[in-house]
This record gives sequence, structure tokens and C-alpha cells, in this order.
Amino acid sequence: MNSIQKTKFDPATIRRDFPILDQMIYKNRKLVYLDNGASTQRPLPVIEAMTDCYRMTYANVHRGIHYLSERSSAQYEAARIAVQEFIGAEHSNEVIFTSGSTAAINTVAHSLFTEERKLNPGDEVLLTIMEHHSNIVPWQQLAARTGAVVRFAGITEQGELDWEDFESKLSEKTKLISVAAISNVLGTRIPIADIVSKAKQFGAFVVVDAAQHVPHEPTVVSEWGADFIAFSAHKMLGPTGIGILYGRQALLEAMPPFLGGGNMISSVTTEGFTPGELPARFEAGTPPIVEAIGLGTAIEYLKNIGVEAIREHEAELTVLAHDLLPRIDGLRILGPPPQKKAGIISFVVDGLSAQDIAIFLDRQGIAIRAGHHCAMPLHDYLGIPNSCRASFYLYNTREDVERLAEALAVVVAKLR
Ligand SMILES: Cc1ncc(COP(=O)(O)O)c(C=O)c1O
Repeated sequence: MNSIQKTKFDPATIRRDFPILDQMIYKNRKLVYLDNGASTQRPLPVIEAMTDCYRMTYANVHRGIHYLSERSSAQYEAARIAVQEFIGAEHSNEVIFTSGSTAAINTVAHSLFTEERKLNPGDEVLLTIMEHHSNIVPWQQLAARTGAVVRFAGITEQGELDWEDFESKLSEKTKLISVAAISNVLGTRIPIADIVSKAKQFGAFVVVDAAQHVPHEPTVVSEWGADFIAFSAHKMLGPTGIGILYGRQALLEAMPPFLGGGNMISSVTTEGFTPGELPARFEAGTPPIVEAIGLGTAIEYLKNIGVEAIREHEAELTVLAHDLLPRIDGLRILGPPPQKKAGIISFVVDGLSAQDIAIFLDRQGIAIRAGHHCAMPLHDYLGIPNSCRASFYLYNTREDVERLAEALAVVVAKLR
């Protein structure tokens, strides 16, 4: 594995680790990558750790008693410990490797409620209107299986959680609350510890969709007190195909496995099977071995830079964007003011389609996202069909934001 030098926070230095960012596209346009909410790029140490594994240490984990399998298994489990330490989980077996945030949330939706802990018709699952489809559809599917009802807390005009509405929808019927710690559209931060303390009054479980939080802001499991947390490696400099479900040990131990197959059992007979211990009972089949190793290296990289430093850097870019973008005729940024949000800037421009704007920006070398960002209910609630989204990460610079603002001014003038 490449040794990672301790770095002073400096985007210019950091960018040297990301060759993908240092390229001209469409012949002579310098690439500006502002689609980090969808997926981030990987630094060389992550790419090299994965390549090194494929070159020298790869084998399937846990099963073989041979040199390569032992090495892969050790690296795979080291990645689990890296995740455990990164989020301050008490036990490493509370960290389950899944294929992503989506799979993590689906695991809870399939396994938490059982015959003994039944979700009855009329019981409620409370979400917010800001959720990503990954944190809506699994609950709707659960509701369809059980007769439970999915409810949505609204937001204020500023794009923050409407506490009054949230509390009015909380009752003895609420069995589970599932919320994003940071909205992938508005950037809004949700006070998770407050949600958990409210939930406890009603004995409801809390799931946190931390896909946009863990990569960008320090995350400490015990400060939230939530039952489950989901996040994805590809949004935090790691590879695709791997994510994490954190769950409180006692809860996970009491949950039946979601997927059946190899690795998740302690024994199988022709009559049936006995599930294995944590974390294997939730990791059926061959896991994303090399991806876990890449994630472990991504975490090492992030820790060296410091997630708090990343948060501060993104806050600076967010302030700049909130200063420059609204100067553009008819442009409106969605969501709260910069101090109350993460580095996600969604906006609409009067009379212009989000797609047209994104296509024009792309031709200038600037990658943003246009559409509903997997949050159709939020866009319906806001009364808009879609929006543009620029989202920042550690390697973005003030110049990136300035180029976005300049190009936007041109496209708006041109398309009007
Ligand atoms: C808030 C939020 N939740 C969940 C997801 C789904 O993540 P994945 O596609 O990695 O499972 C995303 C991805 O954009 C997200 O932003």
C-alpha cells in the first residue's frame, strides 16, 4: 500500500493525487468537476492500493487457508476496522459491508421487523420530504408488505426541517424514523441527535442516511445515538460497489439475515440453516474485497487531511457560491443560507431548463448535475420539475466556483 504523506490542507497539492481532474476536455476546456454529490473521484493511493491487491495479494476471503486468502482476509478486515474507527463505532462487527447506501437501507427495511417485532397495519414510518429515493422506496416497499404507512415531514420556506410538522407527525404509531443527515439536494443539515432524542420518547428506531454526511463532516456514531447509519464509499474517494451499514450490535444480532448464501451461515443441512455471527450474517456471498481495501485507503487519506478541514474548505466554497451565483439574472439557490448547509448548491433559473444549462456548462468543461437528483418528492413539494446541482469536495477550488459563476452568466444571457 502506498504510504500517504500527512498533508496541510491545500487543494492545489491535493489535486496532484487526482490525475483525472488535471485534463482538458472538448479539446481545450479545463475540467471543473462539480458532481461530487453523485460520486467523487479517487486519489492515486486508492487506485494503487486496489491495483496492488489485484497484482499481488488477491484471493477470496475467509474461505481458503492459503497465503493469498489469508492476506486478502486480513486486508478486508483491516478495512472494517478503519471504518469502525472513522465513525467511532464501538465494535467492528457493527460495520457491515454492503454494496452501498441503498443496499444498507434495504437491509434494515427487510430485516428489522420480524414476527417477534412486527410492523402492523397502520404503524408508521416517518421520513422527511427531502429524502433520496433510496431512503423512500425501501420504506414504501415495506409498507406495501405490512400495511404500514409512510409519512413525510415537510420543510420550512428556507429549506430546513419543519420541526413543528415533524413533531406533529410523531406519535405512538411511529415505529421508525429514517432521515438523511444532509440533504443531497438542498445541502440542509438535519440535527440527528435531536431526532434521536424525540424518537426515543416514542420508542421508534432511527435510521440515518449519511451518504452525504460521512464524506464531508466528522461523524461520530455515539454523538448521534442512532440505531442504523448508511453510507457509500464512492462518495468519499473510495470505489463503487461498496457501502456500509452501521447497526447497533444488539439489534443486528437479533435481526435475521437479509440475503442467504455462502459466508452468512454457521451451518447448513438439508433441513435448513443456522445464520452465522456478525458481521458475516449480513455479508452473503463473495464480498467486494478489493473495494473494501480501496475504501480503507480512502479513509486513511481522508483522515490524513482531516474531515473537519474538508468541511471548512467546502463551507468557504459554499459561501462564495452563495455570493456569486445569485448575481445572475433569475437564478435562485434552493435551500438554507450557507451557514446552515453543506457544500451542495442546487439552483433553478427562471425560464430555463436545468438540462439546457447543464449541457451548456458541460461544453465549457464544467460538470454539474441536472434533474431531480433522485428526490422527486422534494421537487414536487417545491413545485419545480428539476434543478441544477453543483456539489463540492476537497479538491475543488475557489477558481472552480468562479468559473461556474462566469459560465452561468454566459449561458443565462445566451439562452434567454
Ligand atoms: C442522500 C443519499 N442517500 C442515498 C444515496 C444512494 O447512494 P448509493 O447509490 O451509493 O447507494 C445517495 C446517492 O446519491 C444520496 O445522496
